[in-house]
Amino acid sequence: MNVTAPSPSGRRAPFPEGGRDWDDLRADMRARSADDIDWRNGRAPLYVFHNDQETYEIGRRAYFEFFSENALGRKRAFHGIQSMERDVLDFGLSLFSAPSSGEGVFTSGGSESILIGMKAARDAWRAEKAERGPGSAMNIVMPDTAHPAFDKASDLLGFEIRRAAVAPDGRADPEAMRPLIDAETIAIVGSAPCFPYGVIDPIDRLSALAGETGKWLHVDACVGGWIAPFFRMNGRGTPDFDFRFEGVRSISADLHKFGFCPKPASTVFFRDAADAERATFVADAWPSGRFETSTLAGTRPGGAVAAAWAVLNHLGTSGYRDAAARLAEMVDLYVEGITAMEGLRMIAQPDLSIIAFTSERDNMFDVATELGTHGWLVGQTRRPPGIHSMMSLFHAPAREAFLADLAASLERVRAGKGRSGAESDVIY
Ligand SMILES: Cc1ncc(COP(=O)(O)O)c(C=O)c1O
Repeated sequence: MNVTAPSPSGRRAPFPEGGRDWDDLRADMRARSADDIDWRNGRAPLYVFHNDQETYEIGRRAYFEFFSENALGRKRAFHGIQSMERDVLDFGLSLFSAPSSGEGVFTSGGSESILIGMKAARDAWRAEKAERGPGSAMNIVMPDTAHPAFDKASDLLGFEIRRAAVAPDGRADPEAMRPLIDAETIAIVGSAPCFPYGVIDPIDRLSALAGETGKWLHVDACVGGWIAPFFRMNGRGTPDFDFRFEGVRSISADLHKFGFCPKPASTVFFRDAADAERATFVADAWPSGRFETSTLAGTRPGGAVAAAWAVLNHLGTSGYRDAAARLAEMVDLYVEGITAMEGLRMIAQPDLSIIAFTSERDNMFDVATELGTHGWLVGQTRRPPGIHSMMSLFHAPAREAFLADLAASLERVRAGKGRSGAESDVIY
C-alpha cells in the first residue's frame, strides 16, 4: 500500500506536532461543529435522545466517574461495573417478564445486540442437527420493515435475508412470512416498534407462528424496549411484545435510545441462559489463555454501564412513566397538527414516538427538501414516500416551528416554487 497516497478528499491531515492545550483544542472542536444540526432544539429527526436536563446530568456524571474503567475486566478488576451491569440486566429481565432461566448481555448498541442475538440463533439451529455445520445455507425471515442491522448481521454471519410484505396497517403480516420459512430458517423477526412506520408488530401472532414452525423468534425492541412498557402502564393500550409470549426467544432493547442512557448502551435478552451461552464467544488457542466475551467488542466503556445503572435508578418506574406520558402527549399534538393539514396522512398510527406521514397528492421528496431549507434535518421514508421522525423530548418545544415550516413548505411545493428532492436523498 502506498502510505503517501492522498485521502479521497485530496487532503490528508499531517500527524500533529502535539502540545496544544485544552482551550485551543476546545475552540477548534467547537469551530468544526459550528454548522452541525441544532439537535438541542429538536432539529434532528433521530440520533440524539433526551428526557430532561437532570437525567442528562446524572448519565453524564456517572459516565465520567467510571471514564477509564474497562467493562471487559469487570469480572476480575472492576467489581463495581460488574455489579452495576448485573443490576441493569436484572432490571431488563424483570421489565420483559423473562422466566427465571433468562439471561442478558450488555452491548454497545442495537446493531451489536441484533448480531449477538442472531449468532445465538444460528448456534441453536446448528446444535439441533449434526449436519448443519459451517457452510450450511441459512436464512432469516422478517417483515419488510425490519432494521438493516439484520442485513448487516446476515452479511457477517452468512444468512440470506427474506423480507415479507407488511399488512396495510404497517405491521408484520405473519401469513406473508409463513411461506418464506423453511428448514434453513434460523430465526423469524418482529419489531417493537419498526423504525420506518413506528408500529409494534403483532408479536402474539408471530409467537404462534414461531411455535408452529419451531423457529426462534427475535423481537427487535431496540427503539421501544425500555419505554413501551411504561406507555402501557399509563393506559395507552400499547401492544405487549415480550417474553410473556412463549415463542419469543430473544429481545434486543437499546438503553441509549428511549432508556435515555448515554451511548453506547444496549441490551439483548434470552429466554434461556443456554442461549446466552451461545452468544458467548470463546477462544482458547493463543499463548495467553482463555478469552471469553459475549459482545463483538472486547474493550468496552465502563462509563456506559455505570451511566445506564445510574439513569435507570434515577428514573425508575415513576420517571419512565412520566417520560412516557410526556412523549405520548407530544406525539398526539404532532399527529394532530400534521393531519390537520389538508392532503397529509399518517402512514400508520404511531404506537410510541416514531411518526411517519405521507401525502397522496404531493411529492414528499420535494416537501422534505423544501423543509430542509428551513434548517431541519428531515427524516424520510421511501415506501411510501414520506417524512419521518423518531422524536424525543427535544422535539416538544420545536413543534410549532416545525408545523409552521411544514405548512410553508407544502405551500411552496404546491405553488411550484419548492426545491425538488429525489428518492436518492434518503440516507441514514
Ligand atoms: C428498530 C431498530 N433496530 C435496531 C437499530 C440499530 O441500533 P443502533 O444504531 O444502536 O445500532 C435501530 C436504530 O435506529 C432501530 O431503529
